[in-house]
Amino acid sequence: MLEALRSGDPEIAGAILKELARQNEKLELIASENLVSPLVLEAQGSILTNKYAEGYPGNRYHAGCEHVDVIESIAIDRAKRLFGAEHANVQPHSGVNANLAVYLAMLKPGASILGMQLDMGGHLSHGSKANISGKFYNCFFYGVHPASERLDYEAVRRLAREHRPDMLVAGASSYSRIIDYAAFREIADEVGAYFMVDMAHISGIVAAGYHPNPVEYADFVTSTTTKTIRGARGGVILSKAEYGKKIDKAIFPGIQGGPQLNTIAGKAVCFREAMTEQFRAYISGVLENARLLASALQSRGYRIVSGGTDTHLFLVDLRPKGVTGVAAEQTLDAVGITVNKNVVPFDPANPQVTSGIRIGTSAVTTRGMAAAEMEQIAELIDSTVSEVGKHEDGDYSAPAFEPLRRGVSELCRRFPVYDYS
Ligand SMILES: Cc1ncc(COP(=O)(O)O)c(C=O)c1O
Repeated sequence: MLEALRSGDPEIAGAILKELARQNEKLELIASENLVSPLVLEAQGSILTNKYAEGYPGNRYHAGCEHVDVIESIAIDRAKRLFGAEHANVQPHSGVNANLAVYLAMLKPGASILGMQLDMGGHLSHGSKANISGKFYNCFFYGVHPASERLDYEAVRRLAREHRPDMLVAGASSYSRIIDYAAFREIADEVGAYFMVDMAHISGIVAAGYHPNPVEYADFVTSTTTKTIRGARGGVILSKAEYGKKIDKAIFPGIQGGPQLNTIAGKAVCFREAMTEQFRAYISGVLENARLLASALQSRGYRIVSGGTDTHLFLVDLRPKGVTGVAAEQTLDAVGITVNKNVVPFDPANPQVTSGIRIGTSAVTTRGMAAAEMEQIAELIDSTVSEVGKHEDGDYSAPAFEPLRRGVSELCRRFPVYDYS
């Protein structure tokens, strides 16, 4: 691996190899990450990076696009077939760009958006003031019900009636329950809003048929092509045919220049993989592992937000353990378990501290881990979290951490990620 780079640019090769070792030797539980197939890696690392091809297949601003046109057309066709969409744009460089392009295509600056609140599970690009969406549009937010910690559709309806948004956005970064798209559609229709779903986290689950397909309900569906769908870094926009031209113009020339054809090839490969029975079995494993891991932590005294999960992810409220999200994240990292701190709904803690962590099972399932390993991971997490506060800050050299580090590393060794050679 990296033969040319090792001698040609040892500094970069060295860092890549260290990252490879980190991926192999640590337990990746960050819900937005996954481990792509060698086929996706090869396509994304290919010579397609050399080609400029502004425009769309058959209508480019550069010459010599006959082969990349084939690739982009295949990617578009596969995305449409995979999700049953009338139109697909596979050029967004990222999930955020996909969302921004939909807004740009359909809304005038100053128009209003109703989306899920960031600290309840939503995403920055659904109207946060820190993001361009919150600066250019007038944004309002809905959250979850304080008791059930699930989406409160009646509250969404009330807010929609009050603010009359031009665009209703569903989808989340840290919400673990199936979303009722029919309810959102009804609300959007009642107030005359467009309806967009950002299925970034769950597009693999949708592709495998384990969640309802938002394409059947929404005017626009956006997604990253990473996370559960396990593809090249980037985004995709699916829409009704009638909006196709506006969406395409919003991506190029609206917010992007030339497409990254190597990445589009990687997306095409992942869409093909996502059509297979193996992928369905994989997603079934991801969901089962998430349920098992959540319940193994529950039985050790952790509170799982909303009581469980229907997805690849769940939020752990650490308050019953008297531990903050940031302390848990750092201590877990010190033994080789990678998670991210995360606010829980109605979190009294500062977002840099948080009361929770978010856990996802996409990457460990790709490695082949199953029920027995989820039990083992829960035990490792619990034993590690129980060390928080017992040692000087930042000192992870205490003997108590040794067996935990060894446990993680033995588990990882049994489920190798990529070949080192
Ligand atoms: C719901 C949602 N939308 C959009 C994004 C942004 O994707 P990207 O980082 O590719 O811009 C994320 C990223 O985690 C996400 O969770």
